[in-house]
Amino acid sequence: MCGIIGATANRDVVPILIEGLHRLEYRGYDSAGVAVASESGLNHKKTVGQVSVLEHAVTEAKLSGHCGIGHTRWATHGKPTEINAHPHGSSESLALVHNGIIENHSVLREKLMTHGYVFVSETDTEVIAHLIHFHLTQSPSAEDRLTVIQKALGELEGAYAIAVIFADMADHLFGARMGSPLVVGVSSGEGYLASDPLALLQVTDQMRYLENGDVVVLTPDECTITDLKGKQQVREVERFQHGDQAADKGSYRHFMLKEIFEQPRAIKDTLSDKVGQSRLLDEALGVDGLSMLKDIEQLHIVACGTSFHAGLVAKYWFESKANIAVSVEVASEYRYRDPCVPENCAFLCISQSGETADTLAALRYAKEKEYVTTIGLCNMPGATLVREADIRLLTHAGIEVGVASTKAFTTQLVVLFWLAQVMSKARGHLNKAQELNVVQGLHALPDQVALAGEQSSMIEKLAFDLVDKPHCLFLGRGLHYPVAMEGALKLKEISYIHAEAYPAGELKHGPLALVDEQMPVITVAPDDHLLEKLKSNLQEVSARGGELINFVSKSVSLDETDAKHSIQVEGMEGDLSPIVASIPLQLLAYYVALHKGTDIDRPRNLAKSVTVE
Ligand code: F6R
Repeated sequence: MCGIIGATANRDVVPILIEGLHRLEYRGYDSAGVAVASESGLNHKKTVGQVSVLEHAVTEAKLSGHCGIGHTRWATHGKPTEINAHPHGSSESLALVHNGIIENHSVLREKLMTHGYVFVSETDTEVIAHLIHFHLTQSPSAEDRLTVIQKALGELEGAYAIAVIFADMADHLFGARMGSPLVVGVSSGEGYLASDPLALLQVTDQMRYLENGDVVVLTPDECTITDLKGKQQVREVERFQHGDQAADKGSYRHFMLKEIFEQPRAIKDTLSDKVGQSRLLDEALGVDGLSMLKDIEQLHIVACGTSFHAGLVAKYWFESKANIAVSVEVASEYRYRDPCVPENCAFLCISQSGETADTLAALRYAKEKEYVTTIGLCNMPGATLVREADIRLLTHAGIEVGVASTKAFTTQLVVLFWLAQVMSKARGHLNKAQELNVVQGLHALPDQVALAGEQSSMIEKLAFDLVDKPHCLFLGRGLHYPVAMEGALKLKEISYIHAEAYPAGELKHGPLALVDEQMPVITVAPDDHLLEKLKSNLQEVSARGGELINFVSKSVSLDETDAKHSIQVEGMEGDLSPIVASIPLQLLAYYVALHKGTDIDRPRNLAKSVTVE
């Protein structure tokens, strides 16, 4: 969840490092630091808090150099303090930044202490710095830094992406990855490293994506990649496709709001390579994709957080449209149990970032099992998940900077709905006329999502009612139960209000005991076959004085439920209603958080990309 950046050039790289760290802040932000190599040796600055604090300190100190590394930290080992902030060093001869977790750090720490190393921080990262130094002192040829680094990395267990500079090699930048992401930026006469291409778009859109086990050495003019044993590796240069405007909030107050309103465009882009004028483009599954999937009987979906909720909605679609039995599970559970894999079962993992440690571990675990194939659904074209899954499906939401996922979620839903329909067609459940209907529905979706966004000012007002509430219940039924779960997750992560979602029919089996005048109950009420049942659930709430806030289909009247607020939303009917219904819930969470004054784009304790377990 930390972010790392490195640069080597024939000019001062400190402004590049600082700008890169600003762009990486979404990954973790309790402290930050940079180190640069120059003729006078290594110089560094570390500060607690946001990158702007570091920027100020670096300017004051007039820090400059042609080769350097930087880091934004999200604490895992040790408190967010200046001492624990990266870079970490060893004997003033090297500086290192790290993203990931070293699992055998205590054993290594003890070993290094017996060799006289003194640890000043509580981090696992300092172990790597000393370990490299230790191998440097053992090496007959101190010049061969690659070998030294490879030896040190060979002793590590766990996940890492690192960047290292040495005092006596002022233009060499070293990097390595195992588990955590690291990309090389390519530009004439300059070399860069970063956890995320986003950090480098200020200087280049040409990237080499490192694979696990890669070690790279960069000078302004050269880039050499080897594996841990020193064997040369080739990683082709790829142009990063998301464009630089993503890192800009434009006129919006927060990235999250910008990303909510970008959803019509994000959905349109996502559909562009999947739906033609009159047919579903199953070619998007790749050469053998459809033939691999056509006859499956079961599907295991695995993901985390918001992506997990997308999987839960998809279960309804796959079962009802394509007659495929689906189980959906969070990756951190799946990866540690011994799941039964029935015959003719495929595995589908969903991850916005494609770098979530638990989801990647689940994918790797699944690849050892007897699945027909593995599918990865992701928003980042160069992500590890995309590289490792057999069948790749991309959402084209554009980079999502706000920690709370919005456009990534709805575009995931779009692709999952599309896939369920593609499978339905391949299995003979969708005739030509029905396919045309589906296609027209998908083409109309961006406008419906835009219309749902038009309720924004009304939702902004009603959000005041929730600001002082400590708790909140979300209710939905059927397809809209996972939508309610996602609404509750959005509210809790950015407004810090405790929120739980229930299938409305479960109310009387326990949670109804919580309902009184102090309990807001937010319901999602589409125009579907469960509406009448939902209405009687809502009666149960209003009879106990619960404060109902309903998001209802335009064609539905819920007056009889005495709702405090009923917001009518166009498009909350039919198969695609879960996508439309998500928009007002995202807006509600956003405005409650805005009124509360929380750090919306960077909520406390959370990070955008959870690359450690
Ligand atoms: C919540 C949120 C998280 C992520 C989860 C998985 O708004 O964004 O719950 O959905 O951390 O992340 P990805 O999809 O990148 O695997």
